[in-house]
Amino acid sequence: MKASHHWWQTDVVYQIYPRSFQDSNGDGIGDLPGIRQRLDYLQWLGIDAIWLSPIFPSPMADFGYDVANYVDVDPMFGTLAELDQLVSEAHQRGMRVLLDLVPNHSSDEHPWFVAARSSRDNPYRDWYIWRDPAPDGGPPNNWLSHFGGPAWSLDPTTGQYYLHLFDPKQADLNWRNPAVRQAIYDAMRFWFARGIDGFRIDVIWMLIKHPDLPDNPPDPQWKPGQPEQHRLLRRHDQHQPEVHAIIREMRMVADEYQDRVLIGEIYLPIDDLVAYYGENLDGVHLPFNFNLVTLGEWNAHAIRALVEHYERALPPGGWPNWVLGNHDQPRVASRLGQSMARLAQMLLLTLRGTPTLYYGDELGMEDVPIPSELVVDPQGIRTPGHGRDPERTPMQWDATPGAGFTTGTPWLPLAVDYPSRNVTRQQDDPQSMLALTHHLLELRRASAALNRGSYATVATSEPDLFAYLRQAGGEQVLVILNMGATPVTLDLSSVGPTGTIAASTGMQRTGHVTLDAVMLDAVEGLVIAIDED
Ligand code: NOJ
Repeated sequence: MKASHHWWQTDVVYQIYPRSFQDSNGDGIGDLPGIRQRLDYLQWLGIDAIWLSPIFPSPMADFGYDVANYVDVDPMFGTLAELDQLVSEAHQRGMRVLLDLVPNHSSDEHPWFVAARSSRDNPYRDWYIWRDPAPDGGPPNNWLSHFGGPAWSLDPTTGQYYLHLFDPKQADLNWRNPAVRQAIYDAMRFWFARGIDGFRIDVIWMLIKHPDLPDNPPDPQWKPGQPEQHRLLRRHDQHQPEVHAIIREMRMVADEYQDRVLIGEIYLPIDDLVAYYGENLDGVHLPFNFNLVTLGEWNAHAIRALVEHYERALPPGGWPNWVLGNHDQPRVASRLGQSMARLAQMLLLTLRGTPTLYYGDELGMEDVPIPSELVVDPQGIRTPGHGRDPERTPMQWDATPGAGFTTGTPWLPLAVDYPSRNVTRQQDDPQSMLALTHHLLELRRASAALNRGSYATVATSEPDLFAYLRQAGGEQVLVILNMGATPVTLDLSSVGPTGTIAASTGMQRTGHVTLDAVMLDAVEGLVIAIDED
């Protein structure tokens, strides 16, 4: 690897939702020793970095995104020593480990909040955001929780409301208070000193709210029947200019250590998103780019426009990144269907920038319908029909009862297709999504053009086609994605005379092609290594 590139630029990140990856003790919930048992698999797959959704002590009102202690491990997942062991075994394999920092809010059971709510003059009071009731006794403004309902709850003991942009059990910390900032920075240092390679930072664009907490204006796009919490524009409760100074401070903490990374969770349109690299690249290293997830229509034209817009908008030296799924979004195979999900995987792993893979997407795992009595996600409870349990079901390892995930009763139901859609089965099937993912990761690792080369769109006259060239040194790799329902034959001789098929999402195709007549099936993607003259 060229010294000019950091590991977080050339590596592939894999998100593990720890509850659902591997249970080692039969309680139906995944844990750290379970993840350790699966490092062989991750290494085989070709993963370089794992990001663990929160594993800190938590009452689990939002499955760990409600932290009650920032510097320990919840016994449900294991012990600090078991985390150390996981990190050290990952490091021995050359893999990095990222944790999930949740700084916007703590659990209401965190000792800070317990103290804060005990009286108005408690020293911790100002660690959270308190306001008197409105004159009618209601909440201080009209802000809404992302999960549904008001973003304020009344604390009966002290007679004031506290802010929670999510569940009432997730009280928003007051980032205008320097003591809060220091406490979270110290937690970051605690983990960095233990060898953690970086953080994914939860809702980083929400950390600071407008100082006057004005009402949010209505969203003219909202229609009755859509979730109530989308009725207002989030003008004053997120994406405030002061957030960048805080992120700069976090970056300084990360920079106290060697080669660590900060990845910010930010759902914003591209032109707003890129500000999070920081004015002098002193923001987060990677502001998560969710635009492939939030893209309204999935077609060649829209994707090409998105990629070009993003490439244009990136600040000089800002490194791109791409995401297709996570624990908050319907799974990519459910959104697009299995065939298109294969193209999407090829896209993710061949675009310029760091890809993040969500566990199970390498199998084409689909959303699992959850009967209402089994819904556990707080968002699904408050906004029925909009829960996130379907994309959080247990990893499908094999066809045995429990899918190789657990010997007990899984905390969420297994997909009905697990006996056929599982790691063991797909490892034996060269046509599987897993085989495709494995192959693409291998290719990416071996190719400087793919893992750090330049990007250029290749113009074609076919509206359903998206083609691009990745280039590093003398190496050129052409990616062609036919997103349409009919086969096409293309003349791409402008790129070069001949090439060798390096990957195909369809029937395993290999061998030489002349680029003046490249044939693609309907919904097929090809990676072609251009022959050097
Ligand atoms: C974003 C996380 O990804 C999501 O799962 C969580 O519910 C909210 N932030 C609140 O922490």
